[in-house]
Amino acid sequence: MNNNGPLLLDIKENVKTYWNERSKTFDDDIGHGADKIESQLWMQYLSEIIGKESKIILDVGTGTGMIAIILAELGHKVTGIDIGEKMIDVGRKKAAEKKLAVIFMPGDAENLPFQDNMYDCVICRHLLWTLPHPDTAIQQWSRVCRPGGLIIAIDGHQKPQNYFPLVDSNDMKSLNERQKLWYQMYSPEIIEQLPLKDVMSVDYLKSFFCNHNLVNVQHLCADEIAEYQKRLMSEEQQRIEHCEVNFIWGTVNKS
Ligand SMILES: C[S@@+](CC[C@H](N)C(=O)[O-])C[C@H]1O[C@@H](n2cnc3c(N)ncnc32)[C@H](O)[C@@H]1O
Repeated sequence: MNNNGPLLLDIKENVKTYWNERSKTFDDDIGHGADKIESQLWMQYLSEIIGKESKIILDVGTGTGMIAIILAELGHKVTGIDIGEKMIDVGRKKAAEKKLAVIFMPGDAENLPFQDNMYDCVICRHLLWTLPHPDTAIQQWSRVCRPGGLIIAIDGHQKPQNYFPLVDSNDMKSLNERQKLWYQMYSPEIIEQLPLKDVMSVDYLKSFFCNHNLVNVQHLCADEIAEYQKRLMSEEQQRIEHCEVNFIWGTVNKS
């Protein structure tokens, strides 16, 4: 770290370490992995937004590939890219079990190794909050997406929501392993360097999209998915966790 906070390299290394470790249990959490019923609901919403014709789609920050795999099941040609190699290892395994030809590759959503206009659609779920340069990221996504293609974020909230668990560093002994990992990798100094950390309202994301030259920006709240996820939760989880699934999307305009 320097006097101005953590270096970019430190942030990306921390983010990578965190998610590589989280890959072991990521899919066990409600809202991460999806059973058959939930997958069907995702398919309905994704088809409504993307359309039924086969498209070439990039899932940025694909993680264990839940969205990438559902899109492939819908008949799209999908590539998933993620900074965490171990996250995509899980995705690769799941796609192979389903005999789906999803391409998974390691890489940075803020610096994509793809040519211009290669994709019909770029999608991300729960990625934006953890990017140190979301402006650069969305410019990259627009660059690789063809004019008239779609950028979709599954993210944000309509009700005020704190994404970041408050963990007291003086009380590390009381933390479980997952909380310790969170505190070590997403320390206050790192979180401070994440511009979208506490502005992830749907309205903010819509203006973020508009400000990056996306047109026809729209929002859809996927109540059925949120309600299904809530039904899977214990009473305690329902009390703590706020279930909301929002799709925000816009059309790439290069004129
Ligand atoms: C909350 S998880 C979401 C995973 C997946 N999109 C999903 O919804 O299941 C965030 C993911 O973003 C990835 N990530 C974070 N920063 C990234 C970056 N700069 N480039 C690519 N992936 C990144 C992490 O490795 C992690 O897999």
